[in-house]
Amino acid sequence: MKTALVCGAGGFIGGHLVRRLKSEGFWVRGVDLKFHEYFDNEADDFVVGDLRDQQLTRSVIDRPFDEIYQLAADMGGAGFIFTGENDADIMHNSATINLNVLDAAYKRACPRIFYSSSACMYPAYNQEDPDNPNCAEDSAYPAAPDSEYGWEKLFSERLFLTYNRNRRIQARVARYHNIFGPQGTWTGGREKAPAAICRKIAMAKSGDTIDIWGDGKQTRSFLFVDECVEGTLRLARSDFTSPVNIGSEEMVTIDQLVDLVSDIAGKSITKNHIPGPVGVRGRNSDNRLIQSALGWAPSHSLREGLEKTYEWIEAQVKRNQ
Ligand code: NAD
Ligand code: GDD
Repeated sequence: MKTALVCGAGGFIGGHLVRRLKSEGFWVRGVDLKFHEYFDNEADDFVVGDLRDQQLTRSVIDRPFDEIYQLAADMGGAGFIFTGENDADIMHNSATINLNVLDAAYKRACPRIFYSSSACMYPAYNQEDPDNPNCAEDSAYPAAPDSEYGWEKLFSERLFLTYNRNRRIQARVARYHNIFGPQGTWTGGREKAPAAICRKIAMAKSGDTIDIWGDGKQTRSFLFVDECVEGTLRLARSDFTSPVNIGSEEMVTIDQLVDLVSDIAGKSITKNHIPGPVGVRGRNSDNRLIQSALGWAPSHSLREGLEKTYEWIEAQVKRNQ
């Protein structure tokens, strides 16, 4: 039986990945600071532990796992990464986890490891025009991410690639672009725009006004979690050694995102644009490389994913009322 380790299994993408690996017949160990809030544990073994602790990390990597997925990080949406208040935690915690996990995997002779980088590592100067952001993989340098979160991701993706070159471990690096879906963070300050907007609209009555950070003209693309997991497995198992975008090319403004969710909810919603952490002006995945490297790229519409996400978040809101 093949074995997999999912670091960050108590998180949003990690939870979905554990489910998928189990459906493929893997023996799976998960590790996280916490159990998953919204999934019953499906891993064969789940270790509640801190991957900043080198001993703990070595003890969970106690065998040459066939596949390791390194998703554990101190992360969140704009309200967490762009305020500046969490920068030291983000840099220290995520870098320490990456240093520990990668080295333990190498020393235990694990053949293959996947790392989840982010589109936040792309230079801010290519994301100033909301209609024409450039996030092609080869646009990464000269480096100028707009957040410490992006700088840490850039450092760590380089770290993984050094082990690819200098040690006998196959490292694969994805640059995720804003992943959303059910069983994700939807409240508490770390939620991203799709979940935050679904929550605000689920809590509103038709005719109500909701707050939106910024002028609403900033652009993003959002990828549904099932396609993120599919792309992750395809990349992890491929021979492609450079960082690759895993994201959607369906770019929308934040106002359009609000209109889409209002329509799904069947509510008339007025937008109140307020100052807030906004990040880059525009961002969109560029899928030319993933298409040529893997012969696959995400294809589902934003609306399909939002319908499933809204339904789940609406149920969470009702449960918490
Ligand atoms: P998430 O916050 O839901 O999951 C990350 C998990 O890591 C959490 O459950 C957290 O408890 C765990 N963790 C944090 N510190 C830990 C520690 N010291 N020891 C053990 N576990 C620890 O985030 P996610 O959305 O599932 O993202 C997974 C990965 O993908 C992260 O590395 C993130 O930076 C990256 N990423 C995500 C997105 C996105 O839109 N979701 C975009 C770009 C990159
Ligand atoms: N979170 C949130 N909540 N964002 C809002 C809100 C709100 O209520 N209202 C408007 N926005 C705007 C933000 O100001 C930002 O301009 C845009 O929606 C997108 O915000 P997020 O989804 O929170 O984050 P992001 O796209 O800037 O960055 C995310 O994606 C990266 C990968 O593409 C983050 O999740 C990063 O951690 C991730 O790496």
